[in-house]
Amino acid sequence: MIKASAPGKLMLFGEHAVVYNKPCIVAAVDHRIGVSLEKREDRKIVLSAPDINFKNYVALIDDLVKSHPKKVRFVLTSVFNFFEKYKIKSGLDIETKSEFSDRIGLGSSSAVVVSTIKALSELFEIEVGKKEIFDLAYKTVLDIQGVGSGFDVAAAIYGGFLLFVKGGKTIKSIKTEKIPLVVGYTGVKADTSTLVKRVSERLKENPKGINKIFEEIERIVNLAEIEMENQNWEKIGKLMSLNQDLLRNLGISSKELENLIRAALKGGAYGAKLSGAGGGDCMIAVTCKEEQDRVKKEIERVGGKIIEVKIPAKGVRVE
Ligand code: PMV
Repeated sequence: MIKASAPGKLMLFGEHAVVYNKPCIVAAVDHRIGVSLEKREDRKIVLSAPDINFKNYVALIDDLVKSHPKKVRFVLTSVFNFFEKYKIKSGLDIETKSEFSDRIGLGSSSAVVVSTIKALSELFEIEVGKKEIFDLAYKTVLDIQGVGSGFDVAAAIYGGFLLFVKGGKTIKSIKTEKIPLVVGYTGVKADTSTLVKRVSERLKENPKGINKIFEEIERIVNLAEIEMENQNWEKIGKLMSLNQDLLRNLGISSKELENLIRAALKGGAYGAKLSGAGGGDCMIAVTCKEEQDRVKKEIERVGGKIIEVKIPAKGVRVE
């Protein structure tokens, strides 16, 4: 049996603008998704995902991309694309195991796609480089979701902190230490495609104003890259709050996110922002070590749930 695992992610800077070819900064987090594979003699793909209550779901290898439930589509489309590219057909037993919920926005879909492709390359003894995994995994995510920059796919493959440009045009590792981050979950599931669509509508209505916001975000991302290398967390916090002001102006923040962000600042965080598409999911705050507990308590006091994460985490690996 072959097993591979890949980490989840948190967007630190640059969400939405990255869809329009501006850079972003993403961190891989130590919550991983593992995929185990074994060959079968017949033409069945038998998939179990106990974390999401799927047991022995059967798909035929000639029928991999047709009307399967959303929860298994990422794995099955990964297998389909891998078989197409490398001209393979084989029955498989697949089991996925997740260390985190698919409802909090930590990138479970991209992590499962990347783990599946890595495990397949091991199982069939095909050498597939990181960029090749990226291209195949990004295609798989686009096949299903239709939109996305691929930042989450890059985090799952390369790990660490990355400066990233859409489609993998830039994937550059940022050298820094562990950033003192607090993560608060709003309890609301964000709908990424709806929010990406909302921004594209705003761009159509007001191209000048929205492009100005994207340019400001780009400036913040470039400064943040330097300050991360300097490990100047106070400055990183300030830049996060500036990034949040711009995201708020884009119209993708929410009452719940704003509550948690306000609480983090009240608790003494250097700065805070939403992370990802907005509308819900998680917010992040940078604090000094001494204030970390106070920031967590304030977030909890207003109804947020603290998600304990260690960052950066290592990228995809065979277990
Ligand atoms: O909702 P998430 O956590 O997948 O983040 C989406 C980030 C966007 O920039 C809005 C879209 C993207 O794919 O970059």
